[in-house]
Amino acid sequence: MCGIVGYVGKQKAAPFILEGLRRLEYRGYDSTGVAILQHGAFRIVKKIGRVANLETEVAKSPLTGTHGIGHTRWATHGGVTDANAHPHLSSDGKIVLIHNGVIENYSAIKKFLLGRGYTFASETDTEVLCNLIAYHYAKQADDAGENRCLAAVRKALLHTQGTYGIVVMCADLPGEMVAARLGSPLILGVGDGENIVASDVSAIVTRTQSVVYLKDGEIVHLTPREFRITTADRATVSPLVDQVTWSVADAEMGTYAHFMEKEIFEQPLALENAMRGRFSADGSTANFGGLNLSASEFRGIERVQFCACGTALHACMVTEHMIERFARVPVECDYASEFRYRNSPLHRNTLFFVMSQSGETIDTLAALREAQRKGYKVLAVSNVVGSTIAREADGGIYQHVGPEVGVASTKAFTSQLLIGAMLALYLGRLRDLSFGDGVEFVRALKAAPDLVRQALAQAPQIKAIAQRYAHHTDMLFLGRLALFPIALEGALKLKEISYLHAEGYPAAEMKHGPIALISEACPSVFFAPQGEILNKIVSSMQEIKARKGPIIAIVTEGVELPAGLADEVIVIPDCHEAVLPIVASIPVQLLSYYIAVERGCDVDKPRNLAKSVTVE
Ligand code: M6R
Repeated sequence: MCGIVGYVGKQKAAPFILEGLRRLEYRGYDSTGVAILQHGAFRIVKKIGRVANLETEVAKSPLTGTHGIGHTRWATHGGVTDANAHPHLSSDGKIVLIHNGVIENYSAIKKFLLGRGYTFASETDTEVLCNLIAYHYAKQADDAGENRCLAAVRKALLHTQGTYGIVVMCADLPGEMVAARLGSPLILGVGDGENIVASDVSAIVTRTQSVVYLKDGEIVHLTPREFRITTADRATVSPLVDQVTWSVADAEMGTYAHFMEKEIFEQPLALENAMRGRFSADGSTANFGGLNLSASEFRGIERVQFCACGTALHACMVTEHMIERFARVPVECDYASEFRYRNSPLHRNTLFFVMSQSGETIDTLAALREAQRKGYKVLAVSNVVGSTIAREADGGIYQHVGPEVGVASTKAFTSQLLIGAMLALYLGRLRDLSFGDGVEFVRALKAAPDLVRQALAQAPQIKAIAQRYAHHTDMLFLGRLALFPIALEGALKLKEISYLHAEGYPAAEMKHGPIALISEACPSVFFAPQGEILNKIVSSMQEIKARKGPIIAIVTEGVELPAGLADEVIVIPDCHEAVLPIVASIPVQLLSYYIAVERGCDVDKPRNLAKSVTVE
């Protein structure tokens, strides 16, 4: 939530910062702003709305300095106004600051600062932190040789409760900046005669592939040629410089209309990448490099607990079905935000998994820490290399699907489903799943990319259906067993990008209440795959039809529904049950996408949302 970027170097800072903000815009898009230090004073331009608005403002009077910061905001404290946009300037004009996170004790600090003559132009917690740094800067002389701005930041953070990724500049110190993090991501890009700090690598890769993932509690002081990382108690940290493995092109939209469209159609390749090199030589099980647990430790696991949020939780719920079905190990899934406070009793031999595309979701991170605090090992499934969750977990699995930019998760979701199925296979083969069943399972997983290609080929038909149904205001998604979480996911996709009211339900639960919603105005999307409960699903469809509810049926090849039962039928390939949730996700992703396009919605940046939720 919120994207931040800081540049200190030899080139003009503003063009690079604006481009970085465009790449970070998916993290928040309520307002944007930039501050450049030139001729000893800050020039700050900030505006509500998108980066494009900011670019128009900046073009009116170009910024020439080589040292600056920029921010794209997802509002927490204070409404969406120009005054609340970042960067914030201290009332003495000395300090300018951008911030991602929440300062929880901001009112107490504000009271303290008001008593000392500091004034405030915004309603934000960030401006309070900015003035607190200015207060410490003004108060102290050079502190035992430490840079005065760095020392002021360090002091201010000692009195701050909450989360932050911040970048700070001081009017007296051209060519320098200070950045710090606690609970919000911050990455350092190490360039040639220039250094960069940003919320994620997408803002850095145009200049350098060399990055340092800063850890919580670290503070970095940067000049164009050097950087020095220290901890809160001033100990120097030896930096580990990593190389980013993806290129700028991976984060470009290419010929697609939206990132979401690109990412939907990228799924066959994404799935291939997620499973590449991860099967045993005998072709009967999955192999994962970074789990850091031995086969016998896995064998001793008596329960698995998953924690995640949003789409990632739906992936966990499908994985629950797969692990229970193929490995016969009991699984629990929980909203990470609930788990962290509920204090539920946990079985001794429980293995924890968290799933998070971004690896930065604060609730998921907190659930991970809570489980570790209780002495459990926690493994993570994540897409972002070097993310906080990936680093803090005891082991894990990277999704390897490249950057996902669209706020609505698609390729990350199906790759999580794939990894979940591979986990079920791995755990199953450590128990009672036979060699033959394992071989069949592996073959099925390897076929998934082609099956997804076939499902994607239905796009023109699904687009036409979307155009017929886009005027509705309510929609239900109904599925059973491992397709119930796909129904939840279908409803979430539709809600978040088209603003339609949608609900996912287990099909047979309809008669216990939600069927009261059914009328000609409320269509239902039904999953009706081949299988032993197909007849039961057909009965649920009949109950909807009897009440005049329109039905969009997603069936697997070979399913013949009674004539006239469904108003629309989308056929997907019949496949192994471990792969079915992946293939069944495609039509609901496409349906949501085309409905949102038809309604003229901003598909990649839906209102009120941000891709990476780093506040509680
Ligand atoms: O990065 P994470 O996977 O932890 O994100 C979790 C949710 O915020 C995320 O899946 C959200 O629900 C998406 N917008 C869904 O499309």
